[in-house]
Amino acid sequence: MKADVLLGLQWGDEGKGKIVDVLTPKYDVIARFQGGPNAGHTLEFNGIKHVLHTIPSGIFHDDAVNIIGNGVVIDPVIFKWEISALEKMGVDIKKRLFVSRRAHLILPTHRLLDAASEKAKGKSKIGSTLKGIGPTYMDKTGRNGLRIGDIDNPKFTEMYEALVAKHAQLLQFYDYDYNLEELEEEWFEGIDLLRSMTHIDCEHYINQALKEGKSVLAEGAQGSLLDIDFGSYPFVTSSNTICAGACTGLGVAPGKVGQVFGIFKAYCTRVGSGPFPTELDNEIGEQMRQVGNEFGSTTGRSRRCGWLDLPALKYAIQVNGVTELIMMKADVLSGFDKIQVCTHYEYKGEQIHHLPYSISEDVVKPVYKKLDGWNNDLTGLTEVESIPSELENYIRFIEEETGVPVSIISVGPDRKQTLHRKALQEAPVLD
Ligand code: IMP
Repeated sequence: MKADVLLGLQWGDEGKGKIVDVLTPKYDVIARFQGGPNAGHTLEFNGIKHVLHTIPSGIFHDDAVNIIGNGVVIDPVIFKWEISALEKMGVDIKKRLFVSRRAHLILPTHRLLDAASEKAKGKSKIGSTLKGIGPTYMDKTGRNGLRIGDIDNPKFTEMYEALVAKHAQLLQFYDYDYNLEELEEEWFEGIDLLRSMTHIDCEHYINQALKEGKSVLAEGAQGSLLDIDFGSYPFVTSSNTICAGACTGLGVAPGKVGQVFGIFKAYCTRVGSGPFPTELDNEIGEQMRQVGNEFGSTTGRSRRCGWLDLPALKYAIQVNGVTELIMMKADVLSGFDKIQVCTHYEYKGEQIHHLPYSISEDVVKPVYKKLDGWNNDLTGLTEVESIPSELENYIRFIEEETGVPVSIISVGPDRKQTLHRKALQEAPVLD
């Protein structure tokens, strides 16, 4: 068997949590491969809305094993909140959730460093979620980090203190006030909880599962345009959010990757700073924000909204090797007379269809194609045959442009508001 991968193709918040939850009945194992509590994966079913930050979105299904992979960074405090919320809902968490020994720990001082660094950047801040993501991955690549496997080391407290002493020096550099004692109490409670969980070598576990014929779905966080290498650097997160991140973040060889499901919204959103060529800083963008409830599930910040950007989407499809597209929030575009799609950019006096090194507004100007909109409320649709012809045209246009079939259309946040569409038979193949 091969592991399928599901990931976001834009700037995050595409709706990965919902689709992992919808697809989980087809899988034995769901594994998160990167990021940490900067993510907020929202699931809705039976009138319940639940947001997951670190825990994979297959957790509500009795028969699936959920894994937090080595590429993930874990904040024990947030992890403990997530576990207690799930236990209150009756989820038998200890039976269903395994944690990689190689996953790194977010220390309270990582969070402080994140806040201090952002404050020092002033106007050029990244717009980080302030969950300590950047400093934790810096310690990982700097070979200073603490991992889940270290929790059982009798010298764990000494190791913790040594790293905190380094962080204290850095915080002095930033001239940043803090009270660590308050934060540490909760943190060590979270460590106790993590100690009681099942720790695994996820690379062995997943490869063994594949050998035994089990199906595995790797769940990404954030989006491809926030990837540390291929995103709009430096306004990115600190991990590889693209498909290759599933290989390094779980220990799955590239040849063992099967389907790659790429999720995108019918429009674009971005939270935090950074370039966004198709951003609509006007009443259309505001309508998308209000109708789409485009406010962050982790930070509550309002999301910037804009039209679909095909050069960016094609770029993400290419670097991920996407085999199927999943379109989210089609319902939010109902009511617009015309839907616009950016088909290419004007760049240094030329028309280009690819994503250049810089996509800031002084470098690229989006060029749009107008398509007819639709007025129908899509949220009650149960079959793909009932979608309005204008939306079907919009989907076909995207398929023709990208060469990848759109297999699922989501028309609302609930599990049930999901239309499975037949893949386009004769989709052109991208080279
Ligand atoms: P960090 O990962 O918290 O350091 O944030 C870096 C950038 O990525 C900021 O612009 C964040 O708003 C953005 N970001 C991080 N996680 C997410 C996410 O899950 N969804 C959307 N944006 C995110």
